Amino acid sequence: MLSIWGRRRAAQDGPPIWTSYSDGPVPDWDYAGIRPEAFREAILRRGAVMLRKAADKETLLEIKAALDALFNDYAATPAGEFERHLESNDPGERDLWEQIKRSHIFDRTFKLATGRSYYEIIRKSGLWALAEQAFPESAVAESQVCNCRRVSDADIRPLFDRPIEFHIDAQVFYDHCLSVNFWTPLDPCGVDAPGLEVIPLGVDETRKYLEHKQMGYSRRPADIGLMHHFRCAKLEAAPLAESGLVSRVWVPEFEVGDVLAFTNFTMHATHHTAAMSQPRVSVEVRVDLPGYRLRFPPSGGA
Ligand SMILES: [Fe+2]
Repeated sequence: MLSIWGRRRAAQDGPPIWTSYSDGPVPDWDYAGIRPEAFREAILRRGAVMLRKAADKETLLEIKAALDALFNDYAATPAGEFERHLESNDPGERDLWEQIKRSHIFDRTFKLATGRSYYEIIRKSGLWALAEQAFPESAVAESQVCNCRRVSDADIRPLFDRPIEFHIDAQVFYDHCLSVNFWTPLDPCGVDAPGLEVIPLGVDETRKYLEHKQMGYSRRPADIGLMHHFRCAKLEAAPLAESGLVSRVWVPEFEVGDVLAFTNFTMHATHHTAAMSQPRVSVEVRVDLPGYRLRFPPSGGA
């Protein structure tokens, strides 16, 4: 599967169809000394903020070890046994085995299995407090969709997931409120292991580009979740290029401890190349901001 980055080298951007995007890269900041007001401005206007050396490395190592141990317990499970559990009449059993198969262990499951929580990452580092201070009009709440993810390169590895093309999380999870994903890799990534690529575009601008409509449009046959609330066809390579957005794609390299904060309306994809030989484990530590008012219709752009 080619990433948008691979396609970008093959196809030049066409003339911009819509030229009113505010310009600028993803802020790439050292976490020490960050101001909540600057964080708020940056994530709303650029869609993402890199926070270098934000997370406590010891905590990340412990969570990585706990996840490795959890998955190792299932590594030798025959495929037939997986299928039997996935077809169980017990919804809880199906849910657990689906999480393991997709390598998406939700925090609720991680807590039960290990006594630990992914939220330790953002509470201990002060990222939770940063969200509270940056968005004082809102409570900060743990998301129901907080999970790990294990992504491998082109080789298919058991209990690892595949790279994902450009999307926004709101098209799958929820679009009623703003949510911030403190995306935290537990391995160095972006060079030898799959990383992440993002389009630096503000929350309202992205919603405007994707024509966010809370009542939704007619569902297309392949639509899942809330995809019909957005013009998801505009996430494909050709319209992104025609809109002048491909040239903006940012592909950071991550060291352990770096955290990329982005929203549920930020366009992002797995960054992967054929040369990547290592897998990557990451945790998506999401907080919801129900008191932040989303404008309908979105008014980004001009
Ligand atoms: Fe995502």
